[in-house]
Amino acid sequence: MQKSGFVYLFFGLAFFSSCTKENGAVRDDSGVYKPTFVIASDIFPAEFGMPNLPKDNRLTEEGIALGRRLFYDPILSIDSSISCGSCHKQEYAFAEPVDFGFGFRGLRAHRNSMPLYNLAYHQRFFWDARVKTLRELVFEPIQAHNEMAMTLPTLRERLKRNKGYVEYFKKAFNTEPNLHDMSLAMEQFLLSIVSKDSRFNQFFPGDNIKVLSASELRGAFIFNGLIDFDANGFSKGADCFHCHGGELAIQLNAGMGGIASNGLDAVSKDKGVGGITNSSQDMGTFKAPSLLNVAVTAPYMHDGRFKTLEEVIDHYSEGVQFDNPSIHPQMAAHGGIQLNLTTKQKQDLLAYLRSMTDSTFLKNPAYSNPF
Ligand code: HEC
Ligand code: HEC
Repeated sequence: MQKSGFVYLFFGLAFFSSCTKENGAVRDDSGVYKPTFVIASDIFPAEFGMPNLPKDNRLTEEGIALGRRLFYDPILSIDSSISCGSCHKQEYAFAEPVDFGFGFRGLRAHRNSMPLYNLAYHQRFFWDARVKTLRELVFEPIQAHNEMAMTLPTLRERLKRNKGYVEYFKKAFNTEPNLHDMSLAMEQFLLSIVSKDSRFNQFFPGDNIKVLSASELRGAFIFNGLIDFDANGFSKGADCFHCHGGELAIQLNAGMGGIASNGLDAVSKDKGVGGITNSSQDMGTFKAPSLLNVAVTAPYMHDGRFKTLEEVIDHYSEGVQFDNPSIHPQMAAHGGIQLNLTTKQKQDLLAYLRSMTDSTFLKNPAYSNPF
């Protein structure tokens, strides 16, 4: 993005035009439609590989800027009190520090707010994986009675009457404000949010071990199941990598642990994916989240039941409910015996999880509130 800033500057000087840069979008006083396409390799790091971006919604500076404005704008809720940013706060990796977020008139969301970054790599969204594209997804919180409680005709009118949006839609899409392009702009903004600068990411895939402390490095071995092999070659490590592995700290393949039961309950109160598919094997299974920035996304799990990472580690060490019929085979791989990590192993694992915090991302002005 910095590079393209340079490009504007260059053309601005070369043609003596009156372009100025504001909130990441180009302001061209003539108001003409001249979108600036974003080069994917400028925002997505080579280590992550290039995501499959939607071909019919190419990222532009103007589209992202409009999406960002919409994300933070409370006028998307019926009483102009709640924005997406109310439940997704940048300093908490776009999650928030309560179990269930507060929506319209103090009503509570049904699940814990999810962190938002590197979504360009995800294939399904929400804890129960019920939505496949971000452009569809945005209409859910906007209309949910306990979130933004908005009606679509009202929203359409509101955007059309707003002079700012008339200008921003024109620049981004060459259209009047409309709900389809609104959803495309929000999709662009969400796709553009990238977290890549944690020490964990500098370390991955292990060729730069100097960035981790000795304790963090021991944690990496525990996380990846590379310790204490028994006579049968089974590791007594914690095997977290099966469902939270790779440089994105998430398993993107639904069948391989990307969607799983991690044994929180014998019978899950929230059916999770099973509530969508009605299949018994999906009952109580959920999307396994990325663990990047996990130190700032408390409380944890779909219902925010764990307040600290220590509690999460205790769960995986000695609290797994093996009698859950949907439990992922990887959770039961140790013959239904709890891991029983030592205090020191727990500290090391915790240290490793904390190395995944990306403070550059948490303060990146490109994602902050533009109002
Ligand atoms: C009242 C709080 C609240 C508001 C407002 C809200 N969200 Fe969320 N968000 C949540 C919760 C809770 C979930 C998980 C919902 C579920 O799994 O059913 C979630 C999940 C998501 C996800 C899925 C992430 C993933 O990894 O699967 C995205 C994307 C998202 N929200 C974007 C938005 C956008 C965009 C808006 C504004 C249009 C918004 N949210 C407004 C609480 C909120
Ligand atoms: C079989 C797959 C699987 C394995 C193995 C696994 N997890 Fe998970 N993890 C999940 C799923 C699924 C969830 C979401 C569960 C829910 O909310 O009901 C989750 C949630 C979490 C969360 C909460 C994240 C958040 O944003 O709320 C943390 C932290 C976590 N796991 C850490 C670990 C650690 C550490 C290990 C290794 C000790 C581990 N996981 C092993 C599947 C797995």
